[in-house]
Amino acid sequence: QDTDMTTILAIPGSWRSGSYNLALARAAQALAPAGCTVELASIAAIPVYDGDSEAAQGVPAPVAELKDRIAAADALLLVTPEYNNSVPGPLKNAIDWLSRPASDLARVFGDKPTGLIGASPGPGGTRLAQAAWLPVLRLLGTRPWFGKSVYVADAGKAFDAGGALVDERLRGVLAAYLQGFAQFAAAR
Ligand code: FNR
Repeated sequence: QDTDMTTILAIPGSWRSGSYNLALARAAQALAPAGCTVELASIAAIPVYDGDSEAAQGVPAPVAELKDRIAAADALLLVTPEYNNSVPGPLKNAIDWLSRPASDLARVFGDKPTGLIGASPGPGGTRLAQAAWLPVLRLLGTRPWFGKSVYVADAGKAFDAGGALVDERLRGVLAAYLQGFAQFAAAR
């Protein structure tokens, strides 16, 4: 691995084929600045949290693997949908598993440069979801970056049918976000 390369691990909170947030994560991958790579992680294999299962078997393999990927990355980027004016359950569930056991929190999330972006077909562009993530990011001990914001509203127009981010203004906003976030992560 190139030690000069800043690695941002992006976790989209939706993996349906037409997901705007998956498309946004892919756009981030394509728009990463020089010296920075954006990798995608999937939460699709993570089961619903179950304390009995954790007590008997510990965290499931896909959770353990993703924990290691987060720990190894320079930065974490949550690409969040908005459900019912708040965080989406599947991504919250994944984060809940990833936060176990609590003795591992510092290794996985401690001081981790963390960003939030998101897309929705509505006018808010995930503003409420992003705000609702803040207490979670705080509890995890992350180092959130607030230098810029990416709220993709009216997502059906921002992306084309193939999932490409075609809105030129938003492409610029996302590129500037990634540039600032990568700098923040590299300076850590
Ligand atoms: C939504 N959606 C939605 N959108 C929004 O802007 N504010 C909201 O509060 C909600 N609430 C909500 C609840 C539930 C249960 C669903 C399934 C959806 C719409 C949501 O933004 C839309 O389905 C997106 O397309 C979801 O993201 P992906 O799958 O495209 O990445």
